[in-house]
Amino acid sequence: MQVKIAKDYAEMSRLAADLVCRLLESKPDAVLGLATGSTPIGLYEELVRRHKAGLDFSRVTTFNLDEYYGLDPNHPESYNYFMWEHLFSKINIPREQVNIPNGAAADPEEECQRYEAKIAAAGGIDLQILGIGHNAHIGFNEPGTPFGSTTSLVKLTPETIKANARFFEKEEDVPREAISMGIKSIMQSRSIILLANGEGKAEAVAAAIQGPVTEEVPASVLQLHPNCTFILDEAAAKKLNR
Ligand code: GLP
Repeated sequence: MQVKIAKDYAEMSRLAADLVCRLLESKPDAVLGLATGSTPIGLYEELVRRHKAGLDFSRVTTFNLDEYYGLDPNHPESYNYFMWEHLFSKINIPREQVNIPNGAAADPEEECQRYEAKIAAAGGIDLQILGIGHNAHIGFNEPGTPFGSTTSLVKLTPETIKANARFFEKEEDVPREAISMGIKSIMQSRSIILLANGEGKAEAVAAAIQGPVTEEVPASVLQLHPNCTFILDEAAAKKLNR
């Protein structure tokens, strides 16, 4: 596991964009795994900037990590809406190459299987971008999720519901469930970048990088991945033993 410490959020975002660009230079039809949340917004802004300067997404395929279950894809708090607003509408990726779990699927089990099969049919993910929850969740895989899990319908913890309530009018509006790629689905990516910024993530980051590998700390599984880079700002790196 590699750890890069950036001086601030802007540098963290640029370093991540550099790695995405390097991949697209060597593999213009790469498969990217993407994340939502406030953390990767700077990376997406940077990618939009580089697209304006010539970076081509016409052959790229993307798979998003997760989506709230029970929200229409057009709901302004859906992850589908987030991704179109922050990235897809601003780059030249064809709509049919964008994949996000359907949070309005009538049969969530079937949707999970369809999603997992589609990732496999695309040849797997070349580079997966991750954020991290305050409890070290990745995607919506909360503490206790088996490392062998694949895409599934998951329940959000009260802590995550509270953390994500800031985007909704009131806490009761936050969906209680989500469709999330599993830990195994994430670990099958050929490379992984986890982004974290701000002091609020420092504890989760230290546990993930330097604590024991345990299902109680979902991001600790990344210690077992052969090609994983954590890109942190100074504040998120504060609790690391250096
Ligand atoms: C959500 C998402 C995660 C994300 C996490 C952190 O729960 N499902 O993929 O990493 O929140 O969000 P933020 O980047 O806003 O701190």
